[in-house]
Amino acid sequence: MNLPRLSPANVRQKASLHDTRDRRLPLIAPPCDLVIFGITGDLARKKLVPALYDLANRGLLHPAFALTGFARRDWSDEDFANYIQDSIKSYARTPWDEHTWEQFRAGLRFVSGTFDDEAAFTRLAETVTELDETRGTGGNHAFYLSIPPASFPKVVSQLAQSGLNTKNPESFRRVIIEKPFGDDLDSAKELAAILHEVFAEKDTFRIDHYLGKETVQNILAMRFSNIMFEPLWNSRYVDHVQITMAEDIGIGTRAGYYDGIGAAKDVMQNHLLQLLALTAMEEPVTFSEHDLRVEKEKVLSAVRLPEDLASNTVIGRYTAGWQGGQQVKGYLEEDNIPASSRTDTFAAVKLYVDTRRWAGVPFYLRTGKRLGKRVTEIAVVFKRAAHIPFDKAATQELGNNALVIRVQPDEGITLRFGSKIPGNGMQVRDVSMDFGYGHAFTEDSPLAYERLLLDALAGNSPLFPGQTEVELSWAIMDPIFKYWAEEVTPVPYRPGTWGPKEAHEILAKDGRSWRNP
Ligand code: BG6
Repeated sequence: MNLPRLSPANVRQKASLHDTRDRRLPLIAPPCDLVIFGITGDLARKKLVPALYDLANRGLLHPAFALTGFARRDWSDEDFANYIQDSIKSYARTPWDEHTWEQFRAGLRFVSGTFDDEAAFTRLAETVTELDETRGTGGNHAFYLSIPPASFPKVVSQLAQSGLNTKNPESFRRVIIEKPFGDDLDSAKELAAILHEVFAEKDTFRIDHYLGKETVQNILAMRFSNIMFEPLWNSRYVDHVQITMAEDIGIGTRAGYYDGIGAAKDVMQNHLLQLLALTAMEEPVTFSEHDLRVEKEKVLSAVRLPEDLASNTVIGRYTAGWQGGQQVKGYLEEDNIPASSRTDTFAAVKLYVDTRRWAGVPFYLRTGKRLGKRVTEIAVVFKRAAHIPFDKAATQELGNNALVIRVQPDEGITLRFGSKIPGNGMQVRDVSMDFGYGHAFTEDSPLAYERLLLDALAGNSPLFPGQTEVELSWAIMDPIFKYWAEEVTPVPYRPGTWGPKEAHEILAKDGRSWRNP
């Protein structure tokens, strides 16, 4: 008998034919409890708790949802509820709603203890059981480690010892972690080994909050739902790609985290390489976790560093100066920064992606604190037309065509191209065609943490980088970090500028220049 051959693609097609979910309905988290370690920290107070409330307010959490805080403070449940209420009132995106709050509040629990305290983890296990019995969280518990990575091993081993990682076939136990995932390739592997002793890879959710941003997901929508961009998306038409993540703030009160890490490890090794992967990857077969990761991994494996790191990479550090009409401190004068610090607050690098699509096309990445303004964008800069049938004087103001994906703020996409200047002559200069989220859609975009928390609780993992991506990203950056550590001191730059002049030279020697966003 001739049976039809089933390829992975038509297995998926069949599976989706039998998927009876109504796709118009939003994804809703099942009954569950989120335990946050580090609940008193800035991330939890300013981002996680408000995002959970916003989800509840939008009806995306099950009414049985519970939030358990674990921290050293000696708080009563009421103290905890006041703290949560204050965080919501100060930072939530959606309006205060008494009904949502009453329901949310009924699911709040607090466990006081340190990470070394076995008795505290026993109390946590009891709390979790109590929630299953009284609130109906169904054995579903996720553990969010919003704590310094040095404490990860201790906390996961305590979770294992108190049996908190043990689930039954109908329930889940997950761990959600925040970067940095290691400090280099070796330590990233060690961290994964420690986590995997307690949680399977499929139950491990790594947050890269850039992947939760609407505009970042829109890179995929723009590239793969349209016909007009993809034919140009290759070395035949693209001259180079610039990825900028600029911030106008300094390090604020984050010296403890930031010093010794610096700009490149903080955001280039993760956020910027993820943006590069989404920009450069091939079309995934589906948007499942597996298919997306496979394509991103292919790009990251193909990244090549230029041979001469001295002229193609730069690190910088902001000095004291003026920004936005205010006098600001230099990095070395910030609170709790040692005078001997060698930490970078600016980094720029040039990379290549050695695939047929991108051969020879440089990808320039830059990031920094205290730069001209807060902006994240990906600019795909096209080659000049092979022949321009106007005399040179008529096209003096004509630059390269460019497609700019504005990740933030002012989210949208701009296309730059040449147009005739009105009048009797035939002068041509650049104009822009603009798409802005704010104009095109009436609904505000959910914030990245709303999307990622919902996905983690619903077990939807495409927007979380896998361990292989993390390792490939370290493998790309490790030689650069080693070179910088051994041979380079960050060069000073003034606040409010676009970084040190050496960053401009990386492009200038290639006959190009950074965009001034
Ligand atoms: C974080 C970095 O990952 O991203 C911070 O640790 C940085 O240093 C932040 O300020 C920027 O995020 P966003 O979403 O404001 O661009």
